[in-house]
Amino acid sequence: MEKGQGPGHAAGIMTGMDVGLLAVAPVDKPVIANLLQLYLHDFSEYEPRELSPQGTFEYSWLDSYFTTPGREAYLITVADRPAGFALTRCDVDGDDGAWNVSEFFVVRGHRRQGVAAQAARLLFQRHPGPWTLSYLLANTPASRFWPKLVSAVAHGPVSHHEQRPPEVPAPRIRLRFPISAHQP
Ligand SMILES: CC(C)(COP(=O)(O)OP(=O)(O)OC[C@H]1O[C@@H](n2cnc3c(N)ncnc32)[C@H](O)[C@@H]1OP(=O)(O)O)[C@@H](O)C(=O)NCCC(=O)NCCS
Repeated sequence: MEKGQGPGHAAGIMTGMDVGLLAVAPVDKPVIANLLQLYLHDFSEYEPRELSPQGTFEYSWLDSYFTTPGREAYLITVADRPAGFALTRCDVDGDDGAWNVSEFFVVRGHRRQGVAAQAARLLFQRHPGPWTLSYLLANTPASRFWPKLVSAVAHGPVSHHEQRPPEVPAPRIRLRFPISAHQP
């Protein structure tokens, strides 16, 4: 994993926590695979998901974040220990090269301490320009988290687009917003 201070780290203003965002090399893909299980379990509360015969949740796209240009995997750390992850891509159809937050997760033991907010700021700074993300209306934490965070970091108008079945399996909000290279 890419280590070091600078743009990949942020000190928690209120908590004194050291939140990091590290680009994950293919050799460390199993770390993200492990965290994905926790994430998919959380998500099974909102979208019905069955376990495989081995007792795991299946996710078909992880390899692509380590092999396909325009896709990236990040580990979120607190005090240099794993605390979550983010998967991003800039190859979404019709998005004009905007970066998209495909998956984003903070482990339960580190929630409501500003970890996601700091990690998301670090993430957006990786690619100044347009970003998009979607969250399920049924996902209350995400529904509270993303609009507040995005309105704080967007450098320009935030577009909200509500998508409903049959366009998508479950009602969701899609945000599109610009990120400046110089954050407030
Ligand atoms: C959504 C998620 C990333 C938030 O992570 P977090 O580290 O707890 O978020 P933060 O502590 O940075 O929260 C910042 C603000 O967002 C809002 N917020 C976050 N979680 C919330 C919750 N469960 N209920 C209400 N508001 C919430 C609050 O305004 C919070 O500020 P406050 O704690 O000062 O009130 C985390 O709950 C998570 O990983 N959930 C499971 C996966 C998921 O749903 N990912 C998003 C997919 S779109």
